Amino acid sequence: MNLLHNIQLKNLTLNNNIFLAPLAGYTSYPTRKIYKMQGNFTCYSEMISAEGLNHSFRKSAEIIDTKAHESPVGIQLFGPNADKILSAFLKIRQFYFDIVDINCGCSIKKVLKSNSGAYLLNNPDEIYRIILRLKNETDKPVTIKIRSGYDNCRKNYLQVHEAAVKAGVDMITFHPRTRAMLFSGKADWSLIKEMKKISPVPIIGNGDIFSADDAIRMINETNCDGVMIARGIIENPFLFDEIFARFNSKAYNSPSASDRVERLLLHCKSLADFYGENRGIREIKKFVKGYLKSLPDISIIRRRLGEVNNFTDFENILKNFLKSL
Ligand SMILES: Cc1cc2nc3c(=O)[nH]c(=O)nc-3n(C[C@H](O)[C@H](O)[C@H](O)COP(=O)(O)O)c2cc1C
Repeated sequence: MNLLHNIQLKNLTLNNNIFLAPLAGYTSYPTRKIYKMQGNFTCYSEMISAEGLNHSFRKSAEIIDTKAHESPVGIQLFGPNADKILSAFLKIRQFYFDIVDINCGCSIKKVLKSNSGAYLLNNPDEIYRIILRLKNETDKPVTIKIRSGYDNCRKNYLQVHEAAVKAGVDMITFHPRTRAMLFSGKADWSLIKEMKKISPVPIIGNGDIFSADDAIRMINETNCDGVMIARGIIENPFLFDEIFARFNSKAYNSPSASDRVERLLLHCKSLADFYGENRGIREIKKFVKGYLKSLPDISIIRRRLGEVNNFTDFENILKNFLKSL
């Protein structure tokens, strides 16, 4: 099969098999908008707390920033059980989204403590109930994002897969590390291959894709239906360009210094327009390292950018830096 292909999820056709992962603290609308300049991959909201939506709707709903023009776009919910997730889901139906995804992989303490995220892997029956209840409530595709298990003694990804498929899940994204590993070691792509072999639903591989070569290797080694990129896009904010080019067998030219600076300024502007200048400038600082990577002597520039609190100063530093090259 071609590297690049459609994925059909019920009535929804994804025009390619490339995905931007939900990344809490990173992939809000203004950032997705900038990344989508590289191609119409599928993207997701940051994870949204079902408990939050149930108890303080207005505050939690602020994070639901998905828009029709960025379709295909999913929302991702995390919660401890089917009742809580369903009641949260019923509250957000008026928002635009094409897919509802359930987070069964988040390994941060706060989420685990609320019996959500990767904690759910301990209870495939609950995952089954969550999917079944959502499927009864919506015609939209229902997907899950999982890790390989809670820890090394409980690597039950095949059991979770079986429960999810039985409930009618439409697609599974698989990051083959356990909850206990967090981001240590390597994602074990052989587990993706194992799941794909038996799966009647699309399996999206996730974990350690930092280049187009990695993405191609994952597809070739595992036969997965698509790839999901997370940390790779923060480290290399042009990674989708590279992946689309290589998947289409086209040449890829790395961005020049001025391409990098121009895109960084556009990203900054997008964040500032969305959040206001103050917060926009704070947010862009998480992305600076990736944009300026590989340019000479950037440590001083990064330090200076770290100190600014308005767009004009941010822009001036970068423009002077470009002139100095
Ligand atoms: C900063 C950060 C935030 C994340 N937020 C989410 C999230 O909101 N929902 C989720 O399912 N996974 C989240 N993840 C996990 C990623 O989506 C992805 O599964 C993981 O990073 C492995 O992929 P990678 O090796 O390409 O980074 C997050 C990861 C990072 C580093």
